Amino acid sequence: MLLLAPVFLSAQQKIDPAGIRDKMQWFADAKLGIFIHWGIYSVGGVDESWSFYNKKISYTDYMKQLNGFTAKNYNPQQWADLIKESGARYSVITTKHHDGVALWDTKQDHYSVVKNTPAKRDVINPFFEALRKDSIKCGAYFSLIDWSYKDYPGFLKDSSRYKIEDDYDRWNRFRHFFQSQIKEVSENFKPDLWWFDGDWEHSAEEWEAEKIRQILLKDNPETIINGRLQGYGDYETPEQNFPVVRPKYNWWELCMTTNNNWGYHLNDDNWKSPYEVITIFADVISNGGNLLLDIGPKADGTIPEQQVQLLKELGKWDHKHAEAIFGTLGGLPQGHFYGPTTLSKDSTDLYLFLPGKVTGEVVLKGLINNIKNISVIGNNTTLQYKIVGKVSFSPIPGLVYITVPENVQDEYMTVLKVVLDGPVKLYRGHGGLQ
Ligand code: GLC
Repeated sequence: MLLLAPVFLSAQQKIDPAGIRDKMQWFADAKLGIFIHWGIYSVGGVDESWSFYNKKISYTDYMKQLNGFTAKNYNPQQWADLIKESGARYSVITTKHHDGVALWDTKQDHYSVVKNTPAKRDVINPFFEALRKDSIKCGAYFSLIDWSYKDYPGFLKDSSRYKIEDDYDRWNRFRHFFQSQIKEVSENFKPDLWWFDGDWEHSAEEWEAEKIRQILLKDNPETIINGRLQGYGDYETPEQNFPVVRPKYNWWELCMTTNNNWGYHLNDDNWKSPYEVITIFADVISNGGNLLLDIGPKADGTIPEQQVQLLKELGKWDHKHAEAIFGTLGGLPQGHFYGPTTLSKDSTDLYLFLPGKVTGEVVLKGLINNIKNISVIGNNTTLQYKIVGKVSFSPIPGLVYITVPENVQDEYMTVLKVVLDGPVKLYRGHGGLQ
């Protein structure tokens, strides 16, 4: 049988965006999700799965971490409440990473924290229950790759168990196994969102990506599937790297760590500051995307203090500025304002996010609408503005200079609300007199 090499497709290559628009609405409105990487790698504080794959640690030593995964201070309601406090509307947790250790009670013959660690229990269901109590949508991360499973070809970076074309039966056994696990997660936990990972190791045909999509949608027609399913996902998932140019996708989500690692890491103190996360978040929503911000709890279930503080600070800021964030649309194209912007759904309110502290005025260019009012979100101050450079006989709009006094500014990022006389209309020409 002829096997094709993995082909890399964009997330929605095989999906008609028109057909998924309705089910994507909550996701488009949600803007912020919290990603959780929890697994045995938190015991030694090593790179999740990759540490043995890349031979930084032996596989045997890596798996010894099973003995230290206690979850003894795990308090799922506290996790959910912190996520709620951060302002996030959904959360995605690793049900199984590339190391193959399931965080639920899998009925398949393979590792789980229930069978193989002192935690001895399913940690997914209580978390989803707590999230649902807080009206937060539940996402299941699931690694298609399973470097521990005896019938999976890949193992270490320079060695694999076999080649699929040499033993198709063995590959079929793996397929049966991982698809059975997916069904378990689907039936037991009914995720609102699936976050696949690792699709790059095999093609859509090899994974049977289309069939996986069908199985999930049959169980729950509303479930959303991320873009790492070789063309059969609903939205795109850039990772760590901020898209500088606005992505063309209908829906996208930047997943990003709070330091340099996904899981709890012993020697990683490179924490992003609240200001950095908030400005990145504003930039993401300005470009029509979501931010999936990652935290990595310790093996006992406690969340590192730096991450707790970060989520609280982020929460303070986005509760204050909620109307400019949640349920909005991506903002103006580049060139109109030196900073991120968003729009209300009817496009009559324009929100301007001010990077850094402002002394004096900010400027808005190419706005055709008349302005009814400009205010500061969170303290209701009305601001003065002035139209500069308007030529009376030309249709080209003038520049709007807005004065922003220092005492109305937010500690992280000030947001202005510009109320327009109708849906936003922009001038995008070259400025020549017509
Ligand atoms: C990467 C890594 C993985 C991590 C994921 C999160 O694909 O393989 O370790 O879980 O990104 O986005």
